[in-house]
Amino acid sequence: MNIKDKIVVVTGGAHGIGRALCREFHKLGAAGIVVADLDLAGAEKVAAEVSGLAIECNVAKEDQIQNLVAKTHEKYGRVDIFCSNAGVGISDAPSWTASGGSNKGWQLCWEVNVMSQVYAARAVLPEMQARGSGHIFNTASAAGLLAQMGDAAYTATKHASYAFSKNLALTHGAEGIGVSVLCPQYVATTMTGIPDDSEQERGAFMLEPEDVAAICCEAIENNQFMITPHQQVKKFVAYMHADHDKWLKSMQELRAKQIGDAEELEMSMFIKAV
Ligand SMILES: NC(=O)c1ccc[n+]([C@@H]2O[C@H](COP(=O)([O-])OP(=O)(O)OC[C@H]3O[C@@H](n4cnc5c(N)ncnc54)[C@H](O)[C@@H]3O)[C@@H](O)[C@H]2O)c1
Repeated sequence: MNIKDKIVVVTGGAHGIGRALCREFHKLGAAGIVVADLDLAGAEKVAAEVSGLAIECNVAKEDQIQNLVAKTHEKYGRVDIFCSNAGVGISDAPSWTASGGSNKGWQLCWEVNVMSQVYAARAVLPEMQARGSGHIFNTASAAGLLAQMGDAAYTATKHASYAFSKNLALTHGAEGIGVSVLCPQYVATTMTGIPDDSEQERGAFMLEPEDVAAICCEAIENNQFMITPHQQVKKFVAYMHADHDKWLKSMQELRAKQIGDAEELEMSMFIKAV
């Protein structure tokens, strides 16, 4: 879908990848950009920059997603591209067992990382189906294809986000509705300990949110489903599918090396395993 003159909604738009997406949509000539976030002040700052509309929204609540879509219709008349980008991770701390996160944390991941995307699709699909056009963009993670060591809830819910995106695409692709799923590894955002606009040193393999956003917009314009900004991800996925036991063994070895250092364990990733 060509982004020029389109109406776009971005959740988690106040910071990080979402903020960069809003800026990129603006650069490419989107006609209206709705910046939705829990952080209204942050959303307002971004909306002012992109001449858009800021809306406070907790994506875990279906009525707030419905309100977000209704307000977008009120101001712009339609939604062409809906980006379900807001996401959270909880980590397996303090026990560092795979079932270690609290039920509350698991529930939060489920609601923010998965159900928000279901609510959004439910809210925008009827109108997109009637028009025979639209694009749904979901931010999952490379953890949704492989695994995020030290965060089982994140891994499981990002897998669910990826799986849901596949079902969206196979069910609605022939109706003229595009679907993309973003599966990055590390990106320099608050989620990985790099606050917005910080000069802090980047970790290995870390991409800038602006570069990721540019790749995402190109993918949306090309109606591309899978977006893996880190080139190595496809290689790792192929490696894992070729032999899950071999992949798991290398992951277990990596984990064993890092077990004494909880902080490093939290930040570590499969990328070093192969
Ligand atoms: N940074 C990475 O390395 C990385 C890697 C893979 C996937 N992701 C995914 O990218 C997406 C964006 O994260 P980011 O890295 O830009 O982090 P970030 O912390 O910079 O931004 C997340 C944004 O989501 C908002 N948010 C959180 N919960 C919300 C809720 N319930 N309702 C509305 N807004 C909410 C936050 O206020 C914030 O503006 C997430 O889905 C994340 O899981 C990030």
